Amino acid sequence: MTKTPSIFECQSCGYSSAKWLGRCPDCGSWNSFIEEKRPKGGEASFAQSGAEAVPVRLSEASTESAPRIGTLDAEFDRVLGGGIVPGSLILLGGEPGAGKSTLLLQIAQSLQKEGQNVLYVSGEESVQQIKLRADRLEDLHKEVPGKNYDIYILSESNFEHILSASEEVRATTLVLDSVQTTFSETLDSAPGSVSQVRHIATRCLNLAKSRNLTIFIIGHVTKDGTIAGPKALEHIVDVVLYFEGERRQNHRIIRAVKNRFGAANEVGIFEMTSRGLIPVRNPSSLFLLERENISPGSAVVCALEGTRPLLVEIQALVVATQYGTARRVATGIDYNRISVLVAMLEKRLGIQMNGCDIYANTAGGLGVDEPGADLGIFAAILSSLRNRPLPAHTVLMGELSLSGDVRPISQAHLRLRETAAMGFLKCILPAGNLPLVEPVDGIELIPIRNVAEVSDLLFG
Ligand SMILES: Nc1ncnc2c1ncn2[C@@H]1O[C@H](COP(=O)(O)OP(=O)(O)O)[C@@H](O)[C@H]1O
Ligand SMILES: [Mg+2]
Repeated sequence: MTKTPSIFECQSCGYSSAKWLGRCPDCGSWNSFIEEKRPKGGEASFAQSGAEAVPVRLSEASTESAPRIGTLDAEFDRVLGGGIVPGSLILLGGEPGAGKSTLLLQIAQSLQKEGQNVLYVSGEESVQQIKLRADRLEDLHKEVPGKNYDIYILSESNFEHILSASEEVRATTLVLDSVQTTFSETLDSAPGSVSQVRHIATRCLNLAKSRNLTIFIIGHVTKDGTIAGPKALEHIVDVVLYFEGERRQNHRIIRAVKNRFGAANEVGIFEMTSRGLIPVRNPSSLFLLERENISPGSAVVCALEGTRPLLVEIQALVVATQYGTARRVATGIDYNRISVLVAMLEKRLGIQMNGCDIYANTAGGLGVDEPGADLGIFAAILSSLRNRPLPAHTVLMGELSLSGDVRPISQAHLRLRETAAMGFLKCILPAGNLPLVEPVDGIELIPIRNVAEVSDLLFG
């Protein structure tokens, strides 16, 4: 009798090792290794499935591909880069309560209307619960005269049973809610373990490619990362979507972190209502607070998220450190970027910052990690430090180099148009962009070259 080979895997990041380790060399977690059994007959892989593949000449390769399928939801289509590519494997991650099940139930019904045959499988909810949610959803996602939104639903967590059910109803789209509650009989380990989660995702990939089946898998993300999370799956799937930002707010931001068929970083913005997730018409307005009485430390930037410009308010608070080392706390902005900008304040403007705590965040919970926002973050910190507000109706854009120069930004014209559309009157932008942009009605352009000029311009 052959013994099943054992392997030890980190439950936080999926790092595997032949022996037990106290600390994961990859993610640094302590005591996170548990023993996993390999599947009988080896781990499934994409290459193993179906008939043996034969090499073809590049020139002879078929480029015929099915057109993308629209989901009747412009925001969701935008995140995917213009609709769903048939036969793709899409992972949707987010914290519990973010709206993953709601969104995919809506999308499932939309796809059914577009002629797909959808099977929605839940390992977490009963058929009655799914039906109750569907009844509550916006009619938009259901009733179109002459179009059928009647999807198949199934409450099941055994992966082998799910596969035969999908075969039986001849599904062309499969939704798996969630990958952590689904288990395969071929593995001994518990549902939700790294090996189960990875095994199921790999088999889904096989299935998607060999049968041209579009598969959505839902993955839970927890803040402490105790459950084998979607992070371990990102390299397997074609598209990774995450719910971003605060769940306590009414709106939800979905970001494409990876997309084999479109631009990464594309965002979709929805409002969570009792009737489901509704696309937000004018997203920039969500990220701008009351603009009439501007307080010190607030700056508006125009960030390019994917292909869409969004106006976002950056807030900074600079206070004297009470005791110990100075604190730097950032939400929605990269912590390291703050450190670089603070170093620039010290070196280029000669301001001592080591006695100051700095708190910085974006309004509305949108993550901004675009270099074009540098100038705005810099100005917000400076404004709080000086305790003087920035000029009203003004948007800042520009990337800062370590030398303190303001570098040109991409897509300046697109950003200017959004700025004008949101009723702003002035734009402080890199001098390098000026010769290239066409003037936009109603916007005064103020070019600047370096951080010293910014400081003079704003605070004299
Ligand atoms: N009856 C309801 N009315 C309004 N909102 C609801 C209702 N039921 C659920 N929700 C919203 O839906 C969210 C849960 O969505 P769900 O799709 O189940 O999340 P997930 O699958 O990501 O855990 C809740 O956070 C809540 O805001
Ligand atoms: Mg759910």
